Amino acid sequence: MKTTWAAALLGLLLSALLSAPSAAHAQAAPVATAPPAWHKAEGLALTPPMGWNSWNKFQCDVSEQLIRETADAMVATGMKDAGYQYINIDDCWHGERDARGFIQVDAKRFPNGMKALADYIHSKGLKVGIYSDAGWKTCGGRPGSRGYEFQDAQTYAEWGIDYLKYDWCNTEGLNAEGAYQTMSAALRKAGRPIVFSLCEWGNQKPWLWGQKIGHLWRTTGDITACFDCVVNHGDWKAWGVVQILDMQDGLRQYAGPGHWNDPDMLEVGNGLTPNQDRAHFALWAMLAAPLIAGNDLRKMPDAVKAVLTQREVIAINQDALGVQGLRHSAKDGIETWVKPLAGGDWAVMLFNRNKEARAVTLDWTQLRLTDELSKRSLDAVATRYQLRDLWAGKDLGVSGAAIKRELPAQDVFMLRLKAPH
Ligand code: GLA
Repeated sequence: MKTTWAAALLGLLLSALLSAPSAAHAQAAPVATAPPAWHKAEGLALTPPMGWNSWNKFQCDVSEQLIRETADAMVATGMKDAGYQYINIDDCWHGERDARGFIQVDAKRFPNGMKALADYIHSKGLKVGIYSDAGWKTCGGRPGSRGYEFQDAQTYAEWGIDYLKYDWCNTEGLNAEGAYQTMSAALRKAGRPIVFSLCEWGNQKPWLWGQKIGHLWRTTGDITACFDCVVNHGDWKAWGVVQILDMQDGLRQYAGPGHWNDPDMLEVGNGLTPNQDRAHFALWAMLAAPLIAGNDLRKMPDAVKAVLTQREVIAINQDALGVQGLRHSAKDGIETWVKPLAGGDWAVMLFNRNKEARAVTLDWTQLRLTDELSKRSLDAVATRYQLRDLWAGKDLGVSGAAIKRELPAQDVFMLRLKAPH
């Protein structure tokens, strides 16, 4: 008897629900379409971010004067015109928190405060980035954002900050996805569109969970100004350019417009040879990596400036298709890299990672491929592409016949293949 009543009641309930579908729908729709409150701001970093960051050259030695002069230099050197946008202040800008827990700048280093500095940077047509840490303290021992995420995000928004790099020191016991999600929610709540850069060093595979949280994520530990070496700091290691390069294997499928793999900031101009500088920059371009310069822009030799402002190479990095390049072959230290581009073009690059020059051959018959990720095919024998040598700034005719070159040590030969229309 009881079960019959229960069944009848359930039947009534069900038919009541079914008879009013449109009302239920009308109410549910707006909730279903609004992204969750912790999702990053959309529409930012549709191509890899370009800018400058203080850390690689200056470490903790940051000041208002350095940042102002760097913003000036960004414009004066032509870097701004070449596409660089962000002036990012890394660790050590912080003072103490005030009595209510709001973070303040180090008043000695930044006597006019962060808002005035941000206004200055904006007046140059540039954007400004800042740094914090998911833990109690930053890597440099300054106050971290743990427990203050919403207050910090609110402060950054009030200051006019456009970019936040969020580090992972002193986070014992924290879950990375949760900690980054909290700051993402705080930035959204603060209401200003801020690029969110996850600096978690790849430990918890942020490429698997970072796409809705941030716009880029570090894939490795720190880079150092060395082309091919490892610097052991005891409990952590810093990596050379080729070491970092090899750690990018298997990650290209996670990158795309608005969400990039970040193999760390550039060391161009920080003591590498001209060939190494060129190769480093070209590799980062092929990887669709953020191009965040890390040298002293105020004292930049012409050769360094020429690398950082090579527009045709930057165009490979900033290509609207937003597909990370791939290593097609590697033999005897000679690698072939390809990157599909918008409009049917390709970038093709030979990279000599050896410490001696090598005679290399670009044989198009060996480079027939289909990229499963972008579903693009390359056959530069069947299709005659116009060839452009990007570092020489020279047209080389059409594809088809093999190209032979003497490739210097740790250098690249980089082409754009223009599709016939
Ligand atoms: C970590 C980061 C670096 C830099 C320093 C600052 O090592 O990975 O990029 O931000 O902290 O202390």
